[in-house]
Order: sequence, then structure tokens, then C-alpha cells
Amino acid sequence: MDNRIVLVTGGAKGIGRSIAHAFAKAGDQVVIADRDEAVGAETERWLLDQQLQAAFIRMDVSDPESITAAMAEIDRRFGRLDVLINNAGITVWKSPYELRVEEWDHVLNTNLRSVFLCSREAAKRMRTNGGGAIVNIASTRAHMSEPHTEAYAASKGGILALTHALALSLSSDRIRVNAISPGWIETGDYEALRAIDHEQHPAQRVGKPADIARACLFLAAPENDFVTGAEIVIDGGMTRKMIYAP
Ligand code: NAI
Repeated sequence: MDNRIVLVTGGAKGIGRSIAHAFAKAGDQVVIADRDEAVGAETERWLLDQQLQAAFIRMDVSDPESITAAMAEIDRRFGRLDVLINNAGITVWKSPYELRVEEWDHVLNTNLRSVFLCSREAAKRMRTNGGGAIVNIASTRAHMSEPHTEAYAASKGGILALTHALALSLSSDRIRVNAISPGWIETGDYEALRAIDHEQHPAQRVGKPADIARACLFLAAPENDFVTGAEIVIDGGMTRKMIYAP
């Protein structure tokens, strides 16, 4: 499929920025949707300066009206949608005794409800064009935890369940829905990481955003149409490592 329209939520920075870059380099028209207009515009400029096809659209994924408005703008500017990467997400680390209801709702609305709403809006467009691919960025925290991460863990576990539910509901429209669960993906200063940070991983290194971007390309590729409802764990082997005190 040439000239696909690829929407990346939270595409202004971090993993989303790398995903946007990967699709743009593959020849796709990338739409970066983010609540951060300044950084989003910078990322758009960074891609355009490389002669790649990119557009920034403001979208707050926690706000249903913002989602539908951004989708309407995509209709106006591009007239179709082929790939959706549900990447936007936030964390809150707080004791379950302290976490306020509003904080719980904000994390769940940003990380999980958004995946449902963006996928539904995207699917309405994809099904009129013969299908498409949706990739949801979950987390290994859907499977295991550190203390004080209830809202985040619940949102990411919800994404995995939503992924297989949508994969079934949208299959007759030829829309595939898959998830990626990243482990530690360093989006800051990779050089500042310590030896122990790398060596604790069976893969002997901390992850990079490009590790996730390559998996997105794989899951969105039309020839991989036998893959749906799946979860790819990209964590350098950390969730396969048994840990007991020495
Ligand atoms: P980041 O914080 O570097 O970037 C997140 C982007 O999402 C930012 O551009 C931010 O403006 C945007 N965003 C946040 N809330 C938004 C909203 N309401 N509407 C629109 N955009 C919004 O995060 P990072 O590390 O790149 O993470 C990306 C995704 O990967 C998240 O879903 C995160 O939970 C997941 N993840 C990250 C891991 C990591 O180690 N970095 C590990 C596992 C999962």
C-alpha cells in the first residue's frame, strides 16, 4: 500500500516520535497527534526538513471531543486513514491509599478510554477503504508491577483486553488490532545509563524507541495480515527473568 496515512497519538516526543519517523522514512504520510503543540510542531518540522511527509494535529486523547475534531481534520486534509498507533500515555506513581478518584480517572481516560475512542473513530474511516491496522502501545506493567502503579497498570492491562476484543469485532472490516508491550525504553539520555541498567537485562541493554518503532512497522505491514489480536513483548527479556535473592 503506497502513501498510507498513519496517525500516531503522542507522536510529538519519546517513543511516538520514533514511530512517526519510522513510518515517514518508509514513505508514509504521518500525522502526529499530540496535546503538546510546541513540541508537536517541532517534530513536524524535523520530519519535513528530512523531506518526509508529516503533519501535526492537536489532539488531547483524554477528551472525546478533541478526538472527533482531530479525526474530522484528518478527513479534510487527507481523506483517509490506514494505520493508527495508539501511543499517547501518562504515568502516575502514588500509593493506592493516596490516589484520588480524579487522578485514577485521568490516567484511565488518557491511557485506556482513548484507545477505544481513537480506534472506533479510525475504524469508521478504515472500513470504507478496505481495512487497516491498529497498534496499541501497552506495557510490561500490564503483567507485572512495582508498588504504587495501580492506575497505570490497570490501564495497560485494559489495553491488552481491548486489543483482543477489538481484533474480533473489527475483523470482518479487515482491520487488524495488535498490541506491543514495551519494557524499559529510554527516551532521555541513553549515554547516561549505568552499566547495571543494561546488564540486568537478558538482552544486555536498555531498550530504545526504535526497538518499538520497528515492531510497529511489522504489525502495520499488509503482508503480516495473519497477525491480529496479538501482543509483542519487547523488553530485553526482563519479564522472563526469575528473580530471587542471591
Ligand atoms: P513520553 O512522555 O516521552 O511521550 C508521551 C507523549 O504523549 C508526549 O508527546 C505527550 O505530550 C503525549 N501525550 C500525553 N498525554 C496526552 C494526551 N492526553 N493527548 C495527547 N497526547 C498526549 O512517553 P513515552 O515514554 O514515549 O511513552 C509512550 C507510550 O509508551 C506510553 O503509552 C507509555 O505508557 C508506553 N510505554 C513506555 C515505556 C518506556 O519505558 N518509555 C515502557 C512501556 C510503555
